[in-house]
Amino acid sequence: MQRLDKIISGANGISRNDARAVIRRGGVTVNGATVTDIGFKADENKDVLCVDGKRLDYNEHIYIMMNKPKGVISASSGKNHMTVTDLVPEEMKRRDLFPAGRLDKDTTGFILITDDGELAHNILSPKKHIEKTYIATLDKPINADIIEAFAEGFTLGDGSVCACSRLKAVGNDLKKAEVVLTQGMYHQVKRMFLKFGITVLELERVKMGALALDSSLESGECRLLTPDEVKLLTSR
Ligand code: URA
Repeated sequence: MQRLDKIISGANGISRNDARAVIRRGGVTVNGATVTDIGFKADENKDVLCVDGKRLDYNEHIYIMMNKPKGVISASSGKNHMTVTDLVPEEMKRRDLFPAGRLDKDTTGFILITDDGELAHNILSPKKHIEKTYIATLDKPINADIIEAFAEGFTLGDGSVCACSRLKAVGNDLKKAEVVLTQGMYHQVKRMFLKFGITVLELERVKMGALALDSSLESGECRLLTPDEVKLLTSR
């Protein structure tokens, strides 16, 4: 059971205030009866909710694409640090939101925030081979030997095995590289380059599965994904 204003704002992607206004003006029915009490509790899985005569399309889960800024940690809550879920606007907030996978504090770009544990597992498990694409700015240029080593896979000093990945220069700039991984080990991209004496100066995730970061999202902004976009997350 949830408050009516919360259910409506969550389902329609409108603010809590706008949801309350719709309820107060008599635009909402629960099982056919108009309800104007914003605090009324309904069961979104059983009750039939209509807004202005239209059946509410209540999705079980929520999927948010965020353009993560630097300095924010990939966690649901942090005592001393701003987290990605702190940046989610009130109208998109749900109880069990968490970031699907981690980006380092200084990494920017695409982070998925959801309450769907199963989808998160499917995206993150290396066994599912879902690609994550990064653009890395480097202190030294890449070369053909490094590209080949990435393609073949290699073992890091601590014994971590990096599966085969794709590496290529972005345009003609050999100090800017696109890296495509299906794993997500701690500091993986940075540690992979360090194996070849290269330091990653900037790192941005630009794609998860077949879904690219929306270039209209400013740093720190987010938006809901459409059902078709959610499917792209797990497409290879
Ligand atoms: N690899 C890294 O080194 N850092 C990230 O944030 C993501 C991948």
